[in-house]
Amino acid sequence: MNKQNQNGKMQCEIGMVGLGVMGRNLLLNMADHGFTVAGFDKDKNKVDSLRKESKEKHVYGAFTVEEFLQLLKKPRAIMLLVPAGHPVDLVIDELLPHLQPGDLIIDAGNSHFTDTNTRAQMLQGQQIQFLGVGISGGEEGARLGPSIMPGGPKAAYEKVRPILEAVAAKVNGDACVTYLGPGSVGHYVKMVHNGIEYGIMQLIAETYDLMKRGLGLNNTQLHDVYRLWNEAELNSYLLEITSNIFAKQDEKTGKQVIDEILAVAKQTGTGMWTSQSAMELQVPVPTIDLAVSMRDLSVFVKEREQASKLYKNPMMLANVDHNIFIKQLQGALFSSMIMVYAQGMMLLAVASDKYAYELNLEAVARIWRGGCIIRARILEDITAAFRANHHLSNLLLDPNLAEKILMQQNNLRQIVSQASFLGVPVPGLMVTLSYLDAYRSVWQPANLIQAQRDYFGSHTYERMDTEGTFHTEWEQDVST
Ligand code: 6PG
Repeated sequence: MNKQNQNGKMQCEIGMVGLGVMGRNLLLNMADHGFTVAGFDKDKNKVDSLRKESKEKHVYGAFTVEEFLQLLKKPRAIMLLVPAGHPVDLVIDELLPHLQPGDLIIDAGNSHFTDTNTRAQMLQGQQIQFLGVGISGGEEGARLGPSIMPGGPKAAYEKVRPILEAVAAKVNGDACVTYLGPGSVGHYVKMVHNGIEYGIMQLIAETYDLMKRGLGLNNTQLHDVYRLWNEAELNSYLLEITSNIFAKQDEKTGKQVIDEILAVAKQTGTGMWTSQSAMELQVPVPTIDLAVSMRDLSVFVKEREQASKLYKNPMMLANVDHNIFIKQLQGALFSSMIMVYAQGMMLLAVASDKYAYELNLEAVARIWRGGCIIRARILEDITAAFRANHHLSNLLLDPNLAEKILMQQNNLRQIVSQASFLGVPVPGLMVTLSYLDAYRSVWQPANLIQAQRDYFGSHTYERMDTEGTFHTEWEQDVST
């Protein structure tokens, strides 16, 4: 250890705090690209295993702050990959007394964007630079190339730009990282990324339910359907892993793992944060909201058991041509998936205005094309849509994407109506279809809502024929 520290003293271009799988993998990725790096974790075992894994590379390890900081070149660049929330503050508090003006802290975890704002302000007062960086791609992405969403002062980004560009995923040679803007924008974009992730995962889960309970397909058939879908316009990381999941055998039982997994969905909060932020900014993201609600509903196992006895029917096998149904389902999923991106992107556009992020949505779509969990072929079209119109308020208004949705809208309608007769829940698909129907409609029944508000609360309303605000005495007879 001492010998190693002597060798590495003041040599490392970047240090990583937190040597969990993500931190360790990202550090090894940096080392693969020729950077000299240091890892710090209080858990000595993690430091030892980092050293073991990185034999020939320029990777140093420490399990005390002092030793760790000794390894870093000045001004220092320190990345944190620790669980979001209080642990981030604890690490910053521990580092702070040892840092000097000009040192840089990069929070690369899934921090809430408001925490990032608070930390940036506090650190600015201490002349410590701070970047809030979203990283997506899971363990494998961290090791082989994630999508990286950085936000904060541009000068701070420039310091670590070569490292981030080197380790990021590449799509046709283009690194899946770019400077996104000031403040907490990196964590905001990552949060919305995860909201979209929740939405797409829910939609895929609904197609699984329909094919399993509605058509009676087995896991092998499901594996094949998802594999074929992934070869066409639905091509995406989430479809790819879904197909693989249905082929995976359980070592313990020899059966397929999927059938051994308890149907209770967990969450770490980023999807819920997306919904909360969207509500606050008054941007409709119904598919994402719904995805969060369905994870919540999955937890009520006992109640669902009770209800299944009370509400027995209907739940039946579809009497349909399987090939036609699966084709319709493919189209329904594809069009809905576009609309989840549309909801997320619309939220980003509004948040960018509200929080002065100066976001370039083309750049966001571009860096999501590789490395991250929501990478998908359709992101090429989404990137092109924002390239053609930087002020596009909703992707549904892009002519090319509109054409794709229009081509599939009848399939989506067919699936939603058949599912409702079968009694198979497809709330994500349903709400997405209704989102489309509401969004494309000039007339809304909101006039009635305004009338009701005015009726019971004198909240007033606007008229179509005259400017101004009006109130009606609803219970007063006009003829009297
Ligand atoms: C990613 C993932 C990653 C993590 C999610 C899981 O982009 O690499 O989104 O951030 O796997 O946070 O979120 P839930 O635990 O809430 O499903």
